Amino acid sequence: MNTVTVRASRQYDILIGSGLLPTLGAEAKKLGNARKICLVSESTVYPLFGKTAEDSLKAAGFSVVSYVFPAGEERKNGTVFLDLLNFLAENKLTRSDMVVALGGGVVGDLAGFAAACFLRGIRFIQVPTTLLAAVDSSVGGKTAIDLPAGKNLAGAFCQPSLVLCDTDTLRSLPEEIFRDGCAEVIKYGVLYDKALFSHLEEKGLAFDRETVITRCVELKRDVVMEDEFDTGARMKLNLGHTFGHGIEAKSRFSVSHGKAVATGLAIVTRAYPCADTPRILSLLEKFGLPTKTDYTVDDLYAYTLSDKKRTGGTVNLIVPRAIGSCDIVPTPVESLKSILQAGL
Ligand code: GLY
Repeated sequence: MNTVTVRASRQYDILIGSGLLPTLGAEAKKLGNARKICLVSESTVYPLFGKTAEDSLKAAGFSVVSYVFPAGEERKNGTVFLDLLNFLAENKLTRSDMVVALGGGVVGDLAGFAAACFLRGIRFIQVPTTLLAAVDSSVGGKTAIDLPAGKNLAGAFCQPSLVLCDTDTLRSLPEEIFRDGCAEVIKYGVLYDKALFSHLEEKGLAFDRETVITRCVELKRDVVMEDEFDTGARMKLNLGHTFGHGIEAKSRFSVSHGKAVATGLAIVTRAYPCADTPRILSLLEKFGLPTKTDYTVDDLYAYTLSDKKRTGGTVNLIVPRAIGSCDIVPTPVESLKSILQAGL
């Protein structure tokens, strides 16, 4: 097992390894005086891992209530969020009690935001069961729900008290969902780490999960500790997301986050070509990720304007200059059309 410690507004450990889920109760117990835990999960993940998580929590002496909602990004909405808050209230969780988010990014974002708001904030544990959640969304304290106007438009920065990543849970994922997470893994290589990028080129989908997840989490930990509230260095984690979020939103979330980010990364590197552009595109292709979209400049431009990272008339575009090195390029929104034209 590997442990990565984040020292931000809250200090917490990220545990990564095989066979960790049955230790959830014992690890939660180390966090202090909670008596009741609300396990939050969704309809595809709960049947696979819900019982192991509940049994482990009960064996450690917690009283457990479970809230399970239908799977899908479209459920990360205000209605499910309010329903979860009501569930926490009806079950009389107190300020010392905790929420456990068991699932991928949708569960983690929604449960984290509910925990951040309930009683003005109770503690929560992230138990990511997808690669995407393991390397990105479970770490760093961004919690959110989507609004009809766009993705993640209501949320809070609220760090978890523990992240427990059992790499065995990722094995039961359909390969499609695993590939989705690979887009975020490739992103870390392009942003910060030539060696990670080369490892992915060499191993393809057979990369060592514990090692690669740990490396991605270390890279994210460093960024979060430097810029927890996303006003500087953390913005680089948005690589591929500016146009990616546009593709996701335009498709009404029928294009998955990972595929959209992969295409967004391909668009930006084609629009700002560098010597490593061909390597970036071929690694995305090696992982079976899309580098093209049928959407037009006009389709994507409209959605890109509602990017929440827009400040006034400027979007901070993240541009690869070489593998392991990217710049934040403040870009007037009027230029986005010609950038999309060059990159599509
Ligand atoms: N997922 C990007 C971030 O945590 O900043």
